[in-house]
Formats: sequence, C-alpha cells, structure tokens
Amino acid sequence: MSSLAPLRRLADDLWVVERAQSFYGLPVGARMSVIRLSGDRLLLHSPVALDAELRAQLDALGRVCFAVAPNRVHHLYAGEVAPSYPGARLWIAPGLDRKRPDLVHEAVLTDEAPPEWRGEVDQAFFRGRPYENEVAFFHRASHTLLLCDLAFNFGPRAAAPTRLLMQLLRSYGRLGPSKLDPLLIRDRAAARASLERILAWDFDRVVVAHGDVQETGGRELLREGYAWLLAPR
Ligand SMILES: [Fe+2]
Repeated sequence: MSSLAPLRRLADDLWVVERAQSFYGLPVGARMSVIRLSGDRLLLHSPVALDAELRAQLDALGRVCFAVAPNRVHHLYAGEVAPSYPGARLWIAPGLDRKRPDLVHEAVLTDEAPPEWRGEVDQAFFRGRPYENEVAFFHRASHTLLLCDLAFNFGPRAAAPTRLLMQLLRSYGRLGPSKLDPLLIRDRAAARASLERILAWDFDRVVVAHGDVQETGGRELLREGYAWLLAPR
C-alpha cells in the first residue's frame, strides 16, 4: 500500500490530491485538481506525479483527456500526463512554451476556454504578473475557483518553517496573497482588470495549490486579500 494521500472528492465531478513539494527548501505542498467534464472526460489541473495508485484512482473516475499547466512555475509533472494517457492533450500557461520548449502541448491558454471544456469550465489569464503568468479556472457546476499561486491558504496543518514564514508575510490563517505579491505585479491596471474578471465569477470554494482548500466564502476572502490591488491609486 502506498502511503500517499488518495484523491479526495470536494463536490460532484471535482476531486483534489495533495503531494509533498518544496519551494526553495520550504515545504509548501502541491495540489492537483481533477474536474470531470461531460462524457466522463477528466481534466487534470496542475498535475502532480502520476503514480500507479493515483492512475488507478483516476481510471475509476473517467478518462484522462486533458491537462493544464496553469502557470509558468507549475509544470514539473505536466509532461507525464500524455505518456501515462496516450491521446491526452496538454494546454500550458503563456510563456511556458519558451521556458519548457520540450513540453508537447495542444495550445497556450488564453482567456477563452477551448471547445473541449467551454461551457463547463471558464478561464482567465491573470495579466501584469509575468513571473507566473497564471491562468485561473472556474468550474461552474461546483462554484469553484482553481488557483495555483495567486493566493495561499496556510494554517495549522502547514509545516513549522512554512507557518513561520507565512506569518511573517502576513499570509497565515486565511486565504489570500502574501505581502510579497505586490512586488510581483508589473502592470497594476492589467492585473486589476484580470482580478475583476475572476471576481465576477460565481464561486464560493477556492482550491489553491499550497495550503488548505477554502470551502466557503472564498470570493469575499479573495476580494479582501487583494483590496490593495482593487483600490484606486
Ligand atoms: Fe506554486
């Protein structure tokens, strides 16, 4: 038996799975989301390593057809999906095609969902923040926003050094960006317009890649956390 955590159901047609991951030596964890689209087609958001047990769990849910590498720094396992699931196609964040020219991909993600998941999942390119170039996703049926690095949600379950750093960065115990996030914004107007587009979606749950899933109230928490970006200057 593997000691790795199994897929966890959050809502109808939505699952997550967590794996250990370090960022510059800090244990921050990583989370993959799985959306089941019409026709039992599975979309993997920010893939983690696909071990045999995880593949068996996915196979029980449907057919892995699509994967997305939603930002420039969430790509480590994106290349594993197609070899594990022949025929599965990968979409990647803007700029990742230059950073990882080896990644075989269907297309670069834009503000417009491709026909493969249009009507079920919406997406928005968060502009003005080129370090990540993240594309946010919204699963309509479960009212869930999927983010990677645009917000964290570290709490008591986080490792001690991670808790300490996030407390220093004023990003502990609640969903939101850290104190460092303003430094990543290079085009404030573009970033604000992107955020407003995301906040117009009807989401309540927010799934982040690092920290805990925010089951309810996610939209207000995100709005409060980014008040500094939304405020006129
Ligand atoms: Fe990340």
